[in-house]
Amino acid sequence: MARESESGLPIEPVYGPESLAGWDPAEKLGEPGAYPFTRGVYPTMYTGRPWTMRQYAGFGTATESNARYQQLIANGTMGLSVAFDLPTQMGHDSDAPIAHGEVGKVGVAIDSIDDMRVLFGGIPLDKVSTSMTINAPAAVLLLLYQLVAEEQGVSADRLTGTIQNDVLKEYIARGTYIFPPKPSLRLIADIFKYCKAEIPKWNTISISGYHMAEAGASPAQEIAFTLADGIEYVRTAVAAGMDVDDFAPRLSFFFVARTTILEEVAKFRAARRIWARVMKEEFGAENPKSLMLRFHTQTAGVQLTAQQPEVNLVRVAVQGLAAVLGGTQSLHTNSFDEAIALPTDKSARLALRTQQVLAYETDVTATVDPFAGSYVIETMTDEVEAAALELMGKVEELGGAVAAIERGFQKGEIERSAYRIAQETDSGERVVVGVNRFQLDEEEPYEPLRVDPAIEAQQAERLAALRAERDQQAVDSALAALRKAAEGEDNVLYPMREALRARATVGEVCNALREVWGTYVPSDAF
Ligand code: 3HC
Repeated sequence: MARESESGLPIEPVYGPESLAGWDPAEKLGEPGAYPFTRGVYPTMYTGRPWTMRQYAGFGTATESNARYQQLIANGTMGLSVAFDLPTQMGHDSDAPIAHGEVGKVGVAIDSIDDMRVLFGGIPLDKVSTSMTINAPAAVLLLLYQLVAEEQGVSADRLTGTIQNDVLKEYIARGTYIFPPKPSLRLIADIFKYCKAEIPKWNTISISGYHMAEAGASPAQEIAFTLADGIEYVRTAVAAGMDVDDFAPRLSFFFVARTTILEEVAKFRAARRIWARVMKEEFGAENPKSLMLRFHTQTAGVQLTAQQPEVNLVRVAVQGLAAVLGGTQSLHTNSFDEAIALPTDKSARLALRTQQVLAYETDVTATVDPFAGSYVIETMTDEVEAAALELMGKVEELGGAVAAIERGFQKGEIERSAYRIAQETDSGERVVVGVNRFQLDEEEPYEPLRVDPAIEAQQAERLAALRAERDQQAVDSALAALRKAAEGEDNVLYPMREALRARATVGEVCNALREVWGTYVPSDAF
C-alpha cells in the first residue's frame, strides 16, 4: 500500500528499475553546475566549499542584535541574516502608535541610519555577506546598509548580500506588504536597476516559498507558487526595459526544509530544473547564471513543538540534512526552543553546531548530489515537477501570479492543504512526536529568553534625539524629492538614499511613498 507524500503523491514501498524505464539521465539531469542544473548549481557543490551557514537573528535594539551577530561570527557562522521587528518590516517608526507592543519583539528595531550604524558596528561589511528579511521597505534598509558601508569606507560595488524584497508572497502568506501590487512591482524594478548600476554583487530578491509552506503549502505548491512569483518579477523587469541577463543572475530563492527528506530532495531538484527551463525557453536567457536557481533554506518552523522542545534538535538535524542533500546554497537551522520564545545564546549555538556536524562530520559533502540515479528520488523528482508544472499552468490561466493573487487562488489552495494537515494531526494519522504520540505526563519547565519591554521607550528617545539634532529642512526637501520621483517615472532609490543620508527615518520615507502610492487592501479584507 503506497503512502501519500506531503504533495499527495504515492510513495511506493519498493522502487525498482521499471520506475526509471526509458528515463534519460542526460536529458533529465545534466552535469552538476550545468543546464538544467537538476544536480546542483555548481560543478563542485560542497566538495569545494560548504553551503553558507547563515543564521537568521535579530531582536531588541541594534545594540542587542549586534552582540548576537558578534557571537554568531565568533561561533563560526559564515553569513549574517537580519531579522527586523514588525514595525520596521511594515515601514513604521518605533514611536508610531501602530508600533506599540511590537518594538524589538520578533526582530531588531531599525528607525534610521543611526540604528543601522550600531547594528553593524565592528562588523566589516566588505568581509561579510548579509541577508535582510525585509520586503515592502526593502529599498530603505538596503540603502541604509549602503550608507553605513560608505561610512566604513566600503564602496557599494564590494557589498554582498540579499534583500528578500518579495512582496507577492506577502500578499499570499505573511502580510508584511504596504503598497498595492502595481507600485510594489515598480519599486522592485527600481531596485533591480539600482543594484545593477550601484551594487552589482547584491542579490536583489529572495523569491520565497518558505512562508507559504509554513502557512500549509505542500512541496509542489511551495515551488509552483514561488516560481510563478519569480516569473511575474522577471516579466516586470523586462517590461521595465531591462535585458533578462542584466538582472536574472542576481535573483535568488528561499524554501523550507521539512522532515520528509525524500520529497524535499526531490522538490529542490525539480525546482532547479523547472526554473532553468523557464528562464531559457520563455525568457531566452543566455548567461548560465541566469538559469541557476540559487536558494536559501530554513528548517520548518511549524514542525517545531513546544512539548519536549529538545526533540526539535532531532527534527532540525533531519531537516538540515534534507536541505543539504537537496543542494542548498545557504542554510538557517532553527533553534530547538523557537516554538516557545526567542533563541537563547545556547540554543542559537546548538542550531549552528547542527550545521557544522552536517558539514564536517558526515560524508554528504564528499560528493555532489548523492541521490542522483536513485529509483525513488528520480521518480519523485519527476512527479513533484509534474505536479508543480500543473499548478503553474493554472496560475498562468488566471493571468499570472498577481491576477491569481487578486482572485485568492494561491491562498485558497494553501488553506485547503493546511486544513488537511490539521485534520490528519487531530486524528493522529499524522504523528507529531510529543504532541499526539509519545507525550509526557508532565512537561519539564523551560526558562525562555524575554525581550525587555523598556526597549520601546529607548527607541522613542533615540528618535526624539535624532529629530531634534538633524537638519529638518534637508530632510523635508529630500522627502519632497522622493514624493516627486514616486509620482513620476524616475528611480525612487536615488532621492530615497539622500533622504536617509539626511537622517530621515524608515517611517518617514515609507509614509512619503504611502502618500503617493496608497496602501494595499486585500480582496478578502473584512
Ligand atoms: N563552486 C563555485 N563557486 C561557489 C561554490 C562552488 N561550489 N559555492 C559558492 N560559490 C561562490 C558563489 O558563486 C558566490 O560567488 P558570486 O556571488 O560571485 O557568484 C559565492 O561563492 C557565495 O556563494 P553563494 O552565492 O552560493 O552563497 P551566499 O550565501 O552568498 O548566497 C543565496 C546564497 C541563496 C544566493 C543568497 O541569496 C542568500 O544568502 N540568501 C539568504 C536569504 C536568507 O537568509 N533569508 C532569511 C529568511 S528568514 C525569513 O524570511 C523570516 C522567517 O520568518 C523565516
